[in-house]
Amino acid sequence: MKVVIRNNSAEGSIWAAHYIAEKINAKAKVTDKPFVIGLCTGSTPIETYAELIRMVKAGEVSFKNVISFNMDEYVGLPESHPESYHSFMHKYLFDQIDEKPENIHILNGNAKDPVAECEAYEKAIVDAGGFDLFLGGVGEDGHIAFNEPFSSLQSRTRVVTLTYDTRVVNARFFDNDFNKVPAQAMTVGVATVLSAKEVVILAFGHKKARAIKDAIEGPMSHYCTLSGLQGHPAGTIVCDELSVGELKVNSYRYFKAVEEAENL
Ligand code: GLP
Repeated sequence: MKVVIRNNSAEGSIWAAHYIAEKINAKAKVTDKPFVIGLCTGSTPIETYAELIRMVKAGEVSFKNVISFNMDEYVGLPESHPESYHSFMHKYLFDQIDEKPENIHILNGNAKDPVAECEAYEKAIVDAGGFDLFLGGVGEDGHIAFNEPFSSLQSRTRVVTLTYDTRVVNARFFDNDFNKVPAQAMTVGVATVLSAKEVVILAFGHKKARAIKDAIEGPMSHYCTLSGLQGHPAGTIVCDELSVGELKVNSYRYFKAVEEAENL
């Protein structure tokens, strides 16, 4: 696992956007096959998406041959709701880049048959060729996508019940009213994320410090589902100085030394 530590979220986001663009461009140079990417929502990736939008508009990268699958969606929230992940993605990314509408995939949280919806999602990912890269965030309790604590590290796309903590944290998007936060979500599993050739996780701010400590220095455990990344051959967590605040000094120094040695 690599941990890239930047001074602040703005610098971390630019690093991540440029990294993703380089990967898209590198694949386009050697094959016509699409670049398949997993995408996340939340306040964390907004700056990364803004930089990708700038790069698309400047002709530095194109999403014309990119297929995306979002990691999660609330159950029972209309797609048109301003806080649905459908609305979020269109607002902060899709409406401003050149990705083809037919290449955009987001779980349908209102599917009549949720089990069939989740199975079809897993199949569509495989049919697209599997993920080249999965971009994710992390919850304050270390959850990845909506894989709450005690989700199996072998989990696949399914319906989950959100924890009290996650609903409280996300109430800020729902008029600070806990009861307005959907109680369930559809999410890719930990194993779905880890099936990607590489995984890039964004974690900024002191509220993520405990999750980052558990994920990096703790055991690989369903208690902190991001810790599943320890078993992945190409996992990178992009942090700012605040989110690494709970790491041991020696861990911090090591990651900084790798950054310098490998010019990350
Ligand atoms: C939700 C999403 C996660 C996201 C997390 C953190 O739980 N399902 O994918 O990583 O929120 O959100 P934020 O970036 O707003 O801190």
